[in-house]
Amino acid sequence: MTLVDLNSLEALSMIFEFWQYLTTPTQIEQAKKMGYLKEAIAMSARADRCQQEWGMHYEKCQQVILQAMTRAVQHRKVLIFGAGSLNDVPLEALSNRFERVMLVDLVFLKSAREKAAKFDNVELIEHDVTESLEWISEGQAMVQAPSTWLDDPHIDLVVSLNLITQLPLIPVRWLLNDYKLSEEAADIVGKQLIFAHVNYLKQFSGEVCLIADRLDIEFDEQGQEVERFDPWWDVEPPKAETTWEWEVVPLGEAGKKWQKNHVGVSFL
Ligand SMILES: C[S@@+](CC[C@H](N)C(=O)[O-])C[C@H]1O[C@@H](n2cnc3c(N)ncnc32)[C@H](O)[C@@H]1O
Repeated sequence: MTLVDLNSLEALSMIFEFWQYLTTPTQIEQAKKMGYLKEAIAMSARADRCQQEWGMHYEKCQQVILQAMTRAVQHRKVLIFGAGSLNDVPLEALSNRFERVMLVDLVFLKSAREKAAKFDNVELIEHDVTESLEWISEGQAMVQAPSTWLDDPHIDLVVSLNLITQLPLIPVRWLLNDYKLSEEAADIVGKQLIFAHVNYLKQFSGEVCLIADRLDIEFDEQGQEVERFDPWWDVEPPKAETTWEWEVVPLGEAGKKWQKNHVGVSFL
């Protein structure tokens, strides 16, 4: 492939991403305002580029959700938080087994909408799982205790899917950059968002499965570890029953470094 071909490919994908931005409907004001839609589009493009590395991770997530499905005593409603692209959701199996499949995220791109539309009992719900973005987007460093669906006794399975460690990222950046919040205060917001989500999950009466990265490690070109991050902001995660590695940023994807995450599964 020549440099001209490469440049035209990049230009085409930029046009596609811009077109997605303009044409994706969003019900939650903060999805566009705070950058979640932009992030979802960028992530979808990365998933296309990293099919090999991400495919294995998606498959593991699907297997775990199938396992969680068998642990559920009844199969009336299943609630999936952070459904996003739906790539890591075994949609057909869930649709066959449960009366209702409720997929929750702040944004759904057209590809996810098309997948969900094939099933009569699958519903896409645009919702902020922190129930705090309204205040945070106005610069208030305030984290609420989420409560939506806790009063629904028909929810037999809840899955938090590669979501919890993402919850602080955009809000904390927003408060630091746009509202000049101190690092210390922003750090407390990050911890509170994680803590509130775990606490929320624990209050559901059905089976609850938490899939999340537990450790993120950055490497240089030679494979030497450069840095490791705690994606849980020092909050103690529940014990993981199963773990795997996910090459989330392969070499060449973002400069000279690459990143591997350790993903863990807990049943709460
Ligand atoms: C790492 S992605 C995982 C998405 C999906 N499971 C996948 O792999 O494609 C994290 C997802 O969390 C969603 N998200 C982040 N903050 C959220 C919030 N406050 N409420 C609901 N969804 C949120 C993002 O839109 C994104 O789809």
